[in-house]
Amino acid sequence: MDVEKDLENIAEEIRKCTDCQLYRNRKNAVPGEGSIEKGIMIIGEAPGYNEDLQGRPFVGKAGKLLEDLLSIAGLKRDEVFITNVVKCRPPNNRQPEEAEIDTCSKYLEKQINTIKPKIIVCVGNVSSNFIFKKFGLKFESMNKLHGKIFQISNLKLQTLIIPTYHPAAILRNLNLLPLAKEDWEKIGEILK
Ligand code: URA
Repeated sequence: MDVEKDLENIAEEIRKCTDCQLYRNRKNAVPGEGSIEKGIMIIGEAPGYNEDLQGRPFVGKAGKLLEDLLSIAGLKRDEVFITNVVKCRPPNNRQPEEAEIDTCSKYLEKQINTIKPKIIVCVGNVSSNFIFKKFGLKFESMNKLHGKIFQISNLKLQTLIIPTYHPAAILRNLNLLPLAKEDWEKIGEILK
């Protein structure tokens, strides 16, 4: 079983996808990228302007902050697999619609089933809501659940799920930064 090859096949499917309206305005789909070696997946919401231009996740301002937060956990961006719930940019960076998430989530499901991550860091509400629901958990709110660790163990997967604030939300409200830093310190502790 060649995980890298399977991921590239999924990425190819994503680049060709026309299953929802978002493909019409995209410059590039953004399948995700990074290493599967450590078994860490970082899951965001959807590509923004810069990600759409480059076809790579988290390459704008939010991406720079994500890299800073990763470094608190002792991680470099190329040591984790970074992706989003939705793979094409919603117009004007609006939140992805429920129908778009429903249509696109098959790709994230495939990526998760292929990587079989040991840790999933859900970055932001959209990602946390999606992942919690997928594993039969209720995501109450980020303020209540950020930095908490949820253990999932089923036939397909054994993983820890950790929700934390989206870097874009932190850039809008810098009061969240110390809370996010604590979350990433905790992630660093788990990795030791
Ligand atoms: N915000 C996200 O949620 N994902 C990206 O890739 C970039 C910004």
